[in-house]
Amino acid sequence: MSKKVTKAVFPVAGLGTRSLPATKAVAKEMLPVVDKPLIQYAVEEAIAAGIDTMIFVTGRNKDSIPNHFDKSYELEKELEKSGKTELLKMLRDLLPPHVSCVFVRQAEALGLGHAVHCAKPIVGDEPFAVILPDDLIEDGQRGCMKQMVDLFNREQSSILGVERVDPKETHKYGIVEHSETAPGVGRLKSIVEKPKPEVAPSNIAVVGRYILTPAIFDKIENTGRGAGGEIQLTDAIAALMQDEAVFSYEFAGNRYDCGSKFGFLLANVEYGLLHPEIKDDFADYLKNRVNNI
Ligand code: G1P
Repeated sequence: MSKKVTKAVFPVAGLGTRSLPATKAVAKEMLPVVDKPLIQYAVEEAIAAGIDTMIFVTGRNKDSIPNHFDKSYELEKELEKSGKTELLKMLRDLLPPHVSCVFVRQAEALGLGHAVHCAKPIVGDEPFAVILPDDLIEDGQRGCMKQMVDLFNREQSSILGVERVDPKETHKYGIVEHSETAPGVGRLKSIVEKPKPEVAPSNIAVVGRYILTPAIFDKIENTGRGAGGEIQLTDAIAALMQDEAVFSYEFAGNRYDCGSKFGFLLANVEYGLLHPEIKDDFADYLKNRVNNI
């Protein structure tokens, strides 16, 4: 019987040091792009892919994430009293009623592999998605994870979202080598975490989107510390592909690395140009502004 992806894991325990000082007191996943926090874009992408259980692997100083998805009685009461019905509806619609949230604590920051493993008791024996909210992906329609779920439904195998990057930047990513099986789809031959450009097998980088079979948990348990002294998801995937097929998928859409200042700024410009409330004024402003740089 074919399996369905119904759960998504969001590893959100990271300290966000690349975005300091903004992230000194605020979870980096709560930084807004135009008017929505990064974590909400990630959850909306999962919902659009048909996922109904959101598993957040959190850490210290991340209370704002559960608060964001929780009901806010005081705020709702105030909005109701002052007749702000549109805002009230927007707040209430943040999470559709069929979606549930589960929070797990990652006590120590031991790496992405370790964070994903913290979700094992909730994921159980099912395929699941992993979404890193730092990587914001805009595809103008169904969403990156939906594209991946469609492929999963055909292949019933693990899938990694990938993108070609500047060969000088391989040291920032998991890098794969694959043999193409269809346009944009490849079967993994190797994967390595953050190789220097001189030794990278390609410039095809894993971005923050994965669908994994539950066999990954055993592999993580047997993965020692890798690059940066951390338990790397990449190393567990390298072990997984010895036993089962793992595919790479070049998604349609644009990715913004919101963990970097430049990527975060680009995301705000691009999402600003898409936002129904401000796009026209913002486009006019930009047109005038570029002529005066
Ligand atoms: C993680 C993964 C890496 C992947 C990247 C995508 O690295 O370990 O393989 O390419 O996410 O954003 P991080 O950016 O957390 O160091």
